[in-house]
Formats: sequence, C-alpha cells, structure tokens
Amino acid sequence: MNPILVIGGTGTVGRQVVSQLLARGVRVRALARSPATTGLPPQVDVAHGDLTLPETLDGCLDGTDAVFLVWTAPPSAVAPALERILERAQRIVFLSAPIKTAHPLFQQPNPLRVMVEQIERLIEASGRQWTFLRPGMFAANALGWWARQIRAGDVVRWPYLAAPTAPIDERDIAAVAVRALCDDGHAGAEYVLTGPQSLSQSEQLSIIGRAVGRSLKIVGISPDEARRELLMIGWPLPAVNMLLAAWAAAIGQPALVTSTVFEITGTPPHSFLDWATDNAAGFRA
Ligand SMILES: NC(=O)c1ccc[n+]([C@@H]2O[C@H](COP(=O)([O-])OP(=O)(O)OC[C@H]3O[C@@H](n4cnc5c(N)ncnc54)[C@H](OP(=O)(O)O)[C@@H]3O)[C@@H](O)[C@H]2O)c1
Repeated sequence: MNPILVIGGTGTVGRQVVSQLLARGVRVRALARSPATTGLPPQVDVAHGDLTLPETLDGCLDGTDAVFLVWTAPPSAVAPALERILERAQRIVFLSAPIKTAHPLFQQPNPLRVMVEQIERLIEASGRQWTFLRPGMFAANALGWWARQIRAGDVVRWPYLAAPTAPIDERDIAAVAVRALCDDGHAGAEYVLTGPQSLSQSEQLSIIGRAVGRSLKIVGISPDEARRELLMIGWPLPAVNMLLAAWAAAIGQPALVTSTVFEITGTPPHSFLDWATDNAAGFRA
C-alpha cells in the first residue's frame, strides 16, 4: 500500500491521525512547512510542503493515493492547492465542521464557513472518493480557553457558563479518519462527530479541576467583559464574536450528541474526564 499523506500532521487532530495510522502498520507521509521541527515519530516520511505554495505540493503527493486534509491556511490558497491535491489523490478525508447541522450551536455567523463550503464543493466536484468529518467542539479547545487561567491560579473567569457542548476528544476524530482513509465503505459519507455527553462549560471546568486535583472557583462574566479580556490577550475579534454567539445560542438546550464515533470505530468515544485526565499536564504550572 502506498503511504497516506497527512496534511496538518503537526496539529491537534493530524498528530493523532499519524500515530493511529502508524499503529495500524500503515506507511505515513506528513506534509510539513518546517520538516526539521515536526516532532513526529522517525517512521514518518516528512516532506516539505506549504498549502500556500502550490508548487511544493506535487512532491508531497507523489506516490500517495489517500490524503487526510486539515485546512487552516488562508482562503486565497484554497483553489490552487485543492487543484494540485485533487489531481493526484484518489481518496481524500477532509476535517470539516458541522455546517449542515441545524443545532443553533453550529449555525452562528462564522467567517470560515464560506471557505469550508468552497473546499467541500471543490472536493465533491473532483470525482474522487471523499469523506467529510464534521466534529463539534474539540475537547482540546479547553487548553486554549482555560489553561492560562488555571496555570495562574484557582479562579477562572468565563462567559456563558451554562452553555452546553459535547466536547470531542481528538483521538476519536482521528479514529474515524483512519477508518475512512484505510477501509472501504466511507465514500460520500459526512460524519457528524461529537463527544459522548452534553456538558455545560461550568461542568467542563469542574471536570478539569478534578483532573488536576484542584477546586477551581468558576466566575461568570458578561460577554462584553469576556470580549474585552480576550482581545487584551490577543484573540482575534472574529473568533471571539463567533464563539460568544455560538455559546449564547446554545443556552437552554442540550448539546447535540451523536453515536457516529461508536458506529464507525466500534469503540465508545472518550469522556471529557478521560480527555482532561490525559491532558492534565497542560493545565499545570
Ligand atoms: N476547534 C474546534 O472546536 C473545531 C471544531 C470543528 C472543526 N474544526 C476544524 O478543525 C481544523 C483545525 O484542526 P486542528 O485543531 O487539528 O488544527 P491545528 O492544531 O491548528 O493544526 C493545523 C495544522 O495545519 C498545518 N498548517 C497550517 N497552515 C499550513 C500551510 N500553509 N501549509 C501546510 N500546513 C499548514 C499546521 O502545520 P504547522 O506545524 O506548520 O503550523 C498544523 O499541522 C480547522 O479547519 C477547524 O475549522 C475545529
């Protein structure tokens, strides 16, 4: 079997896809902008490439049939990069988002949505075998949202504490990706993936406190206070506004929970406590 090309292999989900493919005995090539510093296992064939430099993609794609694609590059790079990728890849698994799911958490204005739709249209029109993964909120977002405050002390100030989500462990997204990359029967599938349980943000923080062995003081703040504080530490305004709108819309109903991870992998998804326990070091000073 030819190697599978992982684009985004140094990121949250891609790194898990790489390790689970290796565990299955599959040869892996990872496209990387900085090959010398990927920290990927030595068995991985690391190839230099950059989605914003389409001429760098051909060498990475040579001799591969299947591609796992994570896209966080700018929208202007989509068309030229996808043209190169879809010219060579027989099968593509794209890490998308639940853009077609009616739950209000997923239907707030989001500047990235247009780009994701464009990527999906190009893939669908290519005639290749494709699978779209549509995970909800990543459990790993907790590191970006809360680790700074939890490392600094026991107080966490946050808005919309009652807003529920069903955080999904990156290992479970990767497990579905590996099935779609390696097994037949996933062509044309769009998998909406969630964690196993609807949990308010407040409950998620309590679980992290339990995982790190501390009793956190969780303080609700207004959306305006949150916006001001997050902008002060460098968060981009569109991302802050998108999250605030999503949490506001999510209040008052449980998060969507799907059974797709179990149906595809035969293994129940990790709980948020599993995730927090295995990532507790990220919350410790
Ligand atoms: N967070 C959520 O709750 C959530 C929910 C649903 C969907 N999603 C989607 O998930 C995706 C993010 O996944 P993630 O968290 O695993 O990503 P991530 O950790 O941010 O990693 C991004 C990966 O893309 C690579 N990359 C960035 N720009 C590149 C370029 N120009 N050329 C080649 N590689 C490039 C990065 O490589 P370097 O090492 O070179 O930086 C890194 O490996 C996004 O598309 C997001 O919309 C996220």
